[in-house]
Amino acid sequence: MSIEVCAFDAYGTLLDVTAAARRAMANIDPQRGLALAYDWRLKQLQYTWIRAIAGAHADFWKVTSDSLDWALERQGLDGNPELRTHLMDLYAELDAFPEVAGMLRILKGANMNTAILSNGSPDMLRSATRAAGIEDSLDAILSVEEVGVYKPDDRVYGLVENHFGCSKSQVLFVSSNGWDAAAAAGYGFVSVWVNRLGEPIDRLPWRPRHELAELSQIPELLASQ
Ligand code: LAC
Repeated sequence: MSIEVCAFDAYGTLLDVTAAARRAMANIDPQRGLALAYDWRLKQLQYTWIRAIAGAHADFWKVTSDSLDWALERQGLDGNPELRTHLMDLYAELDAFPEVAGMLRILKGANMNTAILSNGSPDMLRSATRAAGIEDSLDAILSVEEVGVYKPDDRVYGLVENHFGCSKSQVLFVSSNGWDAAAAAGYGFVSVWVNRLGEPIDRLPWRPRHELAELSQIPELLASQ
């Protein structure tokens, strides 16, 4: 069955989650900026999983600010409210990876349906895609807020079929998060893991169908499906 929709994870896949901490810390302590970015992201994801399991949903802005507080304290940077505000402001307008805008334009030129499927709240996703200049190349921005639970709950992946009226096997789902690409494969999507950092494959019960180093080969991959 041919692919009808190409759906992308947002954070880490289209948007560079390390950009905020790297930029804010560039002139202070770049090394500590990277450590902060890593801690922030790891805690942010852990909080989404725990909230999903415990049935204690709060939106991604809240989870992102809670995890930032933890990461700032770990790095000894918690006494700096201006830095905290600056980091959250930057997070609302993260950089897209360099190949993203061109790749999405090619997909739209080929009449492919395009979407974001993300943990991000609608406001966060709107401001980030606007800042990255990719809003017009996306047919839908689908947020977990519609179902009030985080990935990898099946209800989240189901948003794509509900929105586009297609079947699971007609969705190419692209994520740089190994666990997300794996869970989406388990759900029934044709899944692509964008392994930007050359990481080992996640030891989970499901495997993504494809692995790429970055996103510029997506149009070619779609053409071969
Ligand atoms: C997202 C996170 C998982 O955008 O990166 O859903």
